[in-house]
Amino acid sequence: MDSGTGGMHRRALLRFLLGSPLLGAPWAGVLARPELAVPGSVGEALDVAQIEGVARRELSAAAWHFVVNGSDGGRTAEANLAAFAEWQIRVRRLVDVREVDTGLELFGQRLPSPLVLAPAGGQMALHPEAELATARAAGRRGHLAMMSTVSNFPIGEIVRAGGGPTWFQLYASPDPGVNRMLLAAAADAGCTAIVLTVDSPTRGNRLAERWFGQRSGDAPPAPLGNFVGWPGRPQVGDPALEWGFLDWLRAESRLPLLLKGIVTAEDARLALEHGVDGLIVSNHGGRQEDSGLATLDCLPEVVEAVDGGMPVLVDGGIRRGSDMFTALALGATAVCIGRPYLWGLGAFGEAGVARVLELLDAELVRIMQFAGVTALDGIGRGMLRRRG
Ligand SMILES: Cc1cc2nc3c(=O)[nH]c(=O)nc-3n(C[C@H](O)[C@H](O)[C@H](O)COP(=O)(O)O)c2cc1C
Repeated sequence: MDSGTGGMHRRALLRFLLGSPLLGAPWAGVLARPELAVPGSVGEALDVAQIEGVARRELSAAAWHFVVNGSDGGRTAEANLAAFAEWQIRVRRLVDVREVDTGLELFGQRLPSPLVLAPAGGQMALHPEAELATARAAGRRGHLAMMSTVSNFPIGEIVRAGGGPTWFQLYASPDPGVNRMLLAAAADAGCTAIVLTVDSPTRGNRLAERWFGQRSGDAPPAPLGNFVGWPGRPQVGDPALEWGFLDWLRAESRLPLLLKGIVTAEDARLALEHGVDGLIVSNHGGRQEDSGLATLDCLPEVVEAVDGGMPVLVDGGIRRGSDMFTALALGATAVCIGRPYLWGLGAFGEAGVARVLELLDAELVRIMQFAGVTALDGIGRGMLRRRG
């Protein structure tokens, strides 16, 4: 009787200790308590989560919510993150992994890493050097960067500052003159592909961004860098956009054309029929539709539909090298990040962006070594196991 009660008490005590915030999660170390581990300098940051912590502390409420906000109740943004936890990596042993090569070739360009910077507009909300700082950090390390139509600096200036491989992200305008001007500026700047964002027939309902944005007196500078000298503020984004626009675009631009925002096999097949050169599986980081559909869950059907006919990139919720590995194993040619490098920019400017890229690259190499693969083409579906 006594011993039985004692056993119950011990179990209760153990449950209490394990659940106690005082104890934290000891196996995860101090980083399980982010408030105890906010780095004071960029070099101290050990992962993306720590840099996120600095950005949260440094940025105004309006700027913070501009970056992190998903649409509506945040279901899609959360799904993007949660999807990675559904996959486990089947690591292999006793492989010589002293030399690991993360390089790849995309549209004839050699890249040292499959980590790509997704386009993000209005970066001056986070740092005065905005896209110039981002481009410099990416260029310095040779990462491919996509630059948004709605940047604070013109595309020519951004590419000159960065010097690295750059793709131009186009928000189509109902005015063909605007589209022509943007395509010409991208080509003149030396961009090597056009990325048409197709997930924006309207703007997602980003409640926190709207709420905190309208309450702060200091509105961020309008992201009109690509419209300097253009008479009046043009409309970008077009709810009338249909597949026929791609034919117009093909006739206007010789650069490889990618669609950003494809999440179904049906649309992937239509893209093939329209001669598109590449796809980016994306839901804008969960900032558009309230679908609850994670991009990682959409990736396999898109990869299967194109059947090797074109490269398929993916973005949404990638925060660690192991996430990159999982996406690559599910068939992505390369992976893109948005918020992680924007946190780097908001926290430490150019050095923060560079640190995020460096940390994620190092994490990818590490998980490849554990998995026993020495090149990206060795990462395949057989290296994953679905939790369950
Ligand atoms: C602040 C912010 C601005 C963005 N601006 C654009 C944009 O101008 N054009 C675009 O195609 N996507 C834009 N995106 C979406 C990103 O390109 C990308 O799809 C998304 O951030 C990836 O998800 P992640 O943030 O979880 O990595 C933006 C995302 C954020 C967070």
